[in-house]
Amino acid sequence: MTDDLPAIAADAKSRIAAAGNAAALEALRVELLGKKGRVTELMKTLGGLAPDERKARGAALNVLKDELSAALDARAGAVREAELDARLARETIDVTLPPRPLADGRIHPISQTIDELTAIFGEMGFSVAEGPDIEDDWYNFTALNIAAEHPSRQMMDTFYIKGLSKDGAPKVLRTHTSPVQIRTMMSVKPPIRVICPGRTYRSDHDATHSPNFHQVEGLVIDKAIHMGHLKGCLTDFCRAYFEVADLPLRFRPSHFPFTEPSAEVDIGCSRKGGELKLGNYGDWLEILGCGMVHPKVIANCGLDPEEWQGFAFGMGIERITMLKYGIPDLRTFYEADMRWLKHYGFLPLDVPSMTGGLAR
Ligand code: DAH
Repeated sequence: MTDDLPAIAADAKSRIAAAGNAAALEALRVELLGKKGRVTELMKTLGGLAPDERKARGAALNVLKDELSAALDARAGAVREAELDARLARETIDVTLPPRPLADGRIHPISQTIDELTAIFGEMGFSVAEGPDIEDDWYNFTALNIAAEHPSRQMMDTFYIKGLSKDGAPKVLRTHTSPVQIRTMMSVKPPIRVICPGRTYRSDHDATHSPNFHQVEGLVIDKAIHMGHLKGCLTDFCRAYFEVADLPLRFRPSHFPFTEPSAEVDIGCSRKGGELKLGNYGDWLEILGCGMVHPKVIANCGLDPEEWQGFAFGMGIERITMLKYGIPDLRTFYEADMRWLKHYGFLPLDVPSMTGGLAR
């Protein structure tokens, strides 16, 4: 084997240039620069040389070592890139292929409705806010201006939970999504535009009531929001959601402790021949509650009601789902019956959007 450094360098470099993959390069690195490698072995011979010779030879060996190390690194980079290019060329995905047909699963109508209303309100500039299912009495009732003796605490058939919240009051399963209004006003600086879809609970069970159901709350807080905005917003929403362009809405005076004034909203319908049809037919169907947020509620959240005002609304998600998709019995939503889900459920590509059309 030669001791001629330029010859060793030339030979090593041509082998490095010819190495086609990472493993071959690693083997070369060991062979040349490893503990028992060629260059390392040559280094070990330095001790037997005269001082002058040792200095010159040592310097030359160091240069050789650096050169080979740099050549190995450069080649490793090039090999890595070539391997990546080859992999990219090999692993192509045809994005134009149709999706595989789905055997069984469907999107539950409640999830579909939440997606649809999120899309519609999203296009109006609302974002989604969430809160816990287990609520403090204060968020669920007190902050919403529902006094301790107020009949609505009974009206709502509350599930009380063992254990007390921080202020010593009971914990409850939230009876409505309205506590998310409170949490939002306490944590977000206005202007606020949120919807709050989620689970709600009441001790109630028959063909039109379930102990666990879903609501969506809406809240808009700004400096000059008025009833006109409330009416426009809910009119646009109902027409988009029910897909009836001239669907009439009727705002009927009502009472909620957390709004003043308050209204219940009816949509136009027909019940002729026992069949329910939505549209401008002269008959009315109640679908939601709403109003201007009570100044006391705004103050309870630490905001100045002289500066901020706005509207809120709440509606039952099962109810609007049953109306839109003609589902007759509330209880069937929770029976986990695949036959029902196959009939009323949705495919993942039934993507809801306000402009794309929401029909199946
Ligand atoms: N929280 C009410 C309920 O569960 C619904 C509701 C009515 C919510 C009026 C609101 C509102 O925000 O303004 O019956």
